[in-house]
Amino acid sequence: MRTLTLLAALALSGTAAAQPILTPKPAPQPKINGPEVYGARPGRPFLYRIPSTGERPMRFSAAGLPKELKLDAATGIISGAAPAKRGEYRVTLSAANARGKAARRFRIVVGDTLALTPPMGWNDWYTHYDRITDRLMRQAADAMLASGMADFGYQYVNIDDCWMVKPGSTVAELGGDPRTADGSIRPNGRFPDMKALTAYIHAKGLKAGLYTSPGPLTCARFAGSYQHEEQDARCFAEWGFDFLKYDLCSYRSIDKRTTVEADRKPYELMGSILPKLNRDVVFNLCQYGRSEVWKWGGEVGGNCWRTTGDLGLEKSTRLPAFYSIGFKNAAAWEYAAPGKWNDPDYILIGTVGDASKSSAPPVKTSLTAEEQYSYMSMWALMAAPLFYSGDMGTLDEFTLNVLCNAEVIEVDQDALGKQARIVRRTDDEFILAKPMADGSLAVGLFNLADNEREVAVSWQDLGIEGRRRARDVWRQKDTGAVAGQYKALLPPHGVALARLFR
Ligand code: GLA
Repeated sequence: MRTLTLLAALALSGTAAAQPILTPKPAPQPKINGPEVYGARPGRPFLYRIPSTGERPMRFSAAGLPKELKLDAATGIISGAAPAKRGEYRVTLSAANARGKAARRFRIVVGDTLALTPPMGWNDWYTHYDRITDRLMRQAADAMLASGMADFGYQYVNIDDCWMVKPGSTVAELGGDPRTADGSIRPNGRFPDMKALTAYIHAKGLKAGLYTSPGPLTCARFAGSYQHEEQDARCFAEWGFDFLKYDLCSYRSIDKRTTVEADRKPYELMGSILPKLNRDVVFNLCQYGRSEVWKWGGEVGGNCWRTTGDLGLEKSTRLPAFYSIGFKNAAAWEYAAPGKWNDPDYILIGTVGDASKSSAPPVKTSLTAEEQYSYMSMWALMAAPLFYSGDMGTLDEFTLNVLCNAEVIEVDQDALGKQARIVRRTDDEFILAKPMADGSLAVGLFNLADNEREVAVSWQDLGIEGRRRARDVWRQKDTGAVAGQYKALLPPHGVALARLFR
């Protein structure tokens, strides 16, 4: 009996110590989350679900909404078509429930630029690989709402590779002709009706994404879009997709040159097609950072571009793989801007598959709690697209506490659209600072050492003066006035994410 109690106590304290939950539970009162600015092209279909926490039922309203748009007061879904007239439309979103009400400014910018803040959502790759089906995508969309992720701004439900036919496959569902007689791309047998799938996702106020390659084959050797680029893009828009990941893969065997011009070419082509479509399609370049893509990704119409190889294939060193990917992505900080984001790849936490053994079932991440907070903090400071790629079916409380902290996400989604500058990088310390639209500064102190360590940054290093009100972003708590420096005692691989207000 005694042993049992002791064991139970140990187990409990063990869990609590290993995985402290930092994110406060959302209040029952309404709180509207999500970006303050949103880009749309004139006249294209418009869809936005107001992300908000608080007790349901909730009633939504929107003052100043352009007449072309309508709001469903019960669900908070805004739909219709973007106004034909370019310009800024200043809207005030409101939400009310039995406990209170909340309001938030929301600027709709009708013009040429999409993704004015980094896109957020889920991508199936690191969970389902070549097993992805229509049913799994629908379940992920269901889970995005049921888990509450959508209430924090997660919005895109994206299919990665393997929805097309795999030429030569012996698996009946995957084989067959990759294209119809008129050259149209055919989904494989696991995707019976793409239009019905996007309609299902859109009905929830969420958006749908998919993937192809400019080469004849994708990285998993399914059919790509080579010589069918425009036809495929039109088809994707017709099906109702809102996001395209364009993955170089076998295109490298089509054009073996290693010049910047050669690297730009396939992306220039797709980038010139997408804005002509009658849908807003966010354009995600995936070519692993070749030819310093951050310098020209925006010029070819990209909204975000992978700056590195696959995070899931990156070798861990003394530090887990997300750090080296993060360091490379951080170095391109000057090139990020609204609608043009550096993409360090997905958030691989929770239950997630191993890309080097993709046939094995997903397993619980081996990252410590501290490392997971560091991962999410780094991505937010880098204004990275926030795509979770673990299993949506097994989201636990700890994983959701990492993914769904409204103030951490606010750092990522800030309307100024600056990526954090690298203030310091040594073997033991990494420090990032991100200017925010309200004049505050988001600062991340990362302890890279394997032992507890105090990390400090001076005002001189941060380029600021005077007293600041400091806020612990993870705990969502003010921690008092500070002057001269900001410091924190951090556990191994731990982080302090702070916001310094004037
Ligand atoms: C490449 C990409 C990954 C994923 C796979 C799919 O490796 O970088 O993100 O899309 O292809 O095959």
